Amino acid sequence: MRHPSGNPSLDTVDGLLRLGLRDRWYALCPAGQVRRGELVRLDRVGEELLIWRDAAGTVHVQEDRCPHRGARLSQGVHMGDRIACNYHGLQIDDEGVVVSVPGVPGCALEGKRALRTFPALEHAGAVFAWFGDQEDAEPAPFQPPEQLVDPEWDGFLAYVEWDAPWVYSLDNLMDPMHGAFLHRKSHTMSTGKREALFQIRDTPTGFVFEKTDQAGVNFDWSEWIDTDMHWVRLSIPYPATAGPGGPFTIVCTATPINETQHAAFFWRTRKVTGWQRDSWRFLYKARLEPRHWEVLEQDRVMEEAMPLDAWSRENLYQHDLAIVRLRRMLGGEARRQLRAREAR
Ligand code: FES
Ligand SMILES: [Fe+2]
Repeated sequence: MRHPSGNPSLDTVDGLLRLGLRDRWYALCPAGQVRRGELVRLDRVGEELLIWRDAAGTVHVQEDRCPHRGARLSQGVHMGDRIACNYHGLQIDDEGVVVSVPGVPGCALEGKRALRTFPALEHAGAVFAWFGDQEDAEPAPFQPPEQLVDPEWDGFLAYVEWDAPWVYSLDNLMDPMHGAFLHRKSHTMSTGKREALFQIRDTPTGFVFEKTDQAGVNFDWSEWIDTDMHWVRLSIPYPATAGPGGPFTIVCTATPINETQHAAFFWRTRKVTGWQRDSWRFLYKARLEPRHWEVLEQDRVMEEAMPLDAWSRENLYQHDLAIVRLRRMLGGEARRQLRAREAR
């Protein structure tokens, strides 16, 4: 059975690894990118999407494809609670139901649900949507890590779009070893040993990949979390000059744009409340944020320059164990999804 989007890549294991597994939540963009009254076109996870807010400000994610003849709804007119296609005026609401076909009143399309609509929500400054393998299946509950839920944690979102396959960022995040090399000049990753042995520790939602002989010194562990959304959590120890608060925890997620580009989200969080929160927020904006962008820039340059077929000729070693495990998990899940689709 074909995937409902009609994108043939989504019918193969390789395509699902490049464009993202189905039956997952994905972060699409920072919430501020979708302004009221605007129609935003974004490509994500192999789908061509229209994102907009209704008059109440609620965000909606739908296919950017008019059910009449496929014109881009993102080129249409925002009418508050519906969109009018600019080609022949068809009007469609936030549930994908055709409200009116002005050229042919009473047309059979009126009242029909004719546009794929993805369950969507806004959280922690970003827009998220559920991409089910089946069009109308209920989404799984949205369960972000506690750093994005618990009010005792505070954070800043950094958003990037990089010209590299999505999986390069997953690999990068599950590869703590690169901290001591690629980021060796960074203020937080210049200390500690440069050689390490790693181990994998299972958790209820994934696994932790950690150095066996060093913790709390450098980028010493990464955690893969799959709560019907892929998350990576890691922690970077902070010098005292970074102000009050507990260890600095980064919650990340990445979303394919297409087979060679992806978006990535990094929430830099700290458990800090009251006046300490104010002082941390001030310090972060004034001093720490520019340094974080420098580190991300090093990752970007490295990933974007890597050949697109990097996976086809590698020699992995001990500190790549998490990458091996992750690829096996994602590949297994992609195969499972295609088998389940066949069986329906
Ligand atoms: S293509 Fe949209 S109304 Fe005709
Ligand atoms: Fe990095």
